[in-house]
Formats: sequence, structure tokens, C-alpha cells
Amino acid sequence: MFITFEGIEGSGKSTAMRAVAETLQQRGHGVLLTREPGGSELGGVLRRILLDVATTDLAPEAELFLYLADRAQHVRQVIRPALAEDIVVLCDRYADSTVVYQGYGRSLDRTLLHQCNHMAVGGLWPDCTLLLDLEPHVGLTRALARNVAQAQAAREGRFEAESLDFHRRIREGYLTLAALHRERFRIIDASQPLERVVADCLTVVESLLSPQ
Ligand code: TYD
Repeated sequence: MFITFEGIEGSGKSTAMRAVAETLQQRGHGVLLTREPGGSELGGVLRRILLDVATTDLAPEAELFLYLADRAQHVRQVIRPALAEDIVVLCDRYADSTVVYQGYGRSLDRTLLHQCNHMAVGGLWPDCTLLLDLEPHVGLTRALARNVAQAQAAREGRFEAESLDFHRRIREGYLTLAALHRERFRIIDASQPLERVVADCLTVVESLLSPQ
């Protein structure tokens, strides 16, 4: 079972994912928690380049191919082998992030992005995508507070530094994708307290793992 988590910065994806993984493990499932960019060894190098604020003049096309390279390697080296062993794979961001950030955010052609994604993932699409949906100004305030708390604002912040308008386009992009792919997307209200967000995610995941 392959489940991806998507959402704007500060939507609480990573925290919710960890809580979901813990619960699934307690219930006896083998779980792999992974993320993009940075889910493979090569990905670790690419992540540093991609999220470094000093790389702000990265051309949108160059940025795109780095995300795709990260994904191509991640799918083949990490995700597919885990799925072959019946492990539940929970991935923090995946191909939808590219359509939304590089398409709705950077204005690259979305049809082309879909084709590039399809090639990068070798046809591997998630069984389910949980979209943690939130007002961008709430998410950005949270992300900023987290960066300051972790003293990483100088290291990771290229997208946090974008305008509120950019993040509004990202949210709209996600909601549009969710409407286009209803069979795969589930929208979670990420403005709720974390326990509620986690409970909602678990309800979806458990219904997938043990369908009635
Ligand atoms: P990360 O620190 O993982 O942020 P978050 O906690 O919000 O997931 O940074 C990942 C950043 O990379 C995020 O701003 C979105 C961006 N991104 C893209 O632009 N395209 C992509 O294909 C992916 C996977 C991420």
C-alpha cells in the first residue's frame, strides 16, 4: 500500500505522518516513512541543493529536473522494493508536489509535468493521497515558527520565502488536483488540532488496509 501526504508548508504533514506510522506499527504493520526530496542517498544530496536558500536563482526547469531525478531514484531504490515486501509506504510529498509547485507555483506546463512525472515514477502512482488542507497564512505562520525554533531558516526556506500569493496558488492547485483525481485524493482539514488531523488520516488509512 502506497500512501502519499501532500499540503502547503506548515500543514502538519510530517508530524501527522509520524503519528500515523506509529499507530500502524503498533497494530503490526510493517511501515516505511520516507519523503521527497531526500528519500534516497542521491536524494539527500539533491535535497540540500533544492532547499538551500543560496540557490534562489535556480531556473524553474533546472529545479524541475532535480525534483524528478530525486523521485526517479527514490521510486526504484526505496519505494518499489518496500512495496514488493508488502510494507506500507508513507511518503511525505510525491509527484503531486511537482504539478502543484512547479506547475501552479512556477507556471511550467502542467500537461508536460504530468508526463515527466509519469516517466520519473515508472507508472507508480499512490493508492491514496491525503491532502492536508489549510489556509496559507496559517500554514506559513506555523512553518516560520518551526524554522525559527529549529534555527534552520537560513538553510531551508526557499519556498517559505515565497509570497502569500504563491502559496495561495499552491493551495488552489492542490484542491484542483484533488477534484480531478477523486478516486485517489482524500482531503483532511488541517486547521483542526493535531490529534483530530491524525485521527482523520488514520480513518482513511485503516479503511484502505482492511476494507469492509
Ligand atoms: P520540506 O522541507 O520537505 O518542506 P515541507 O515540510 O513543507 O514538506 O521541503 C520540500 C519543499 O520542496 C517544499 O517547499 C515543496 C518543494 N517541492 C517542490 O517544489 N516540488 C516537488 O516535486 C517536491 C517533492 C517538493
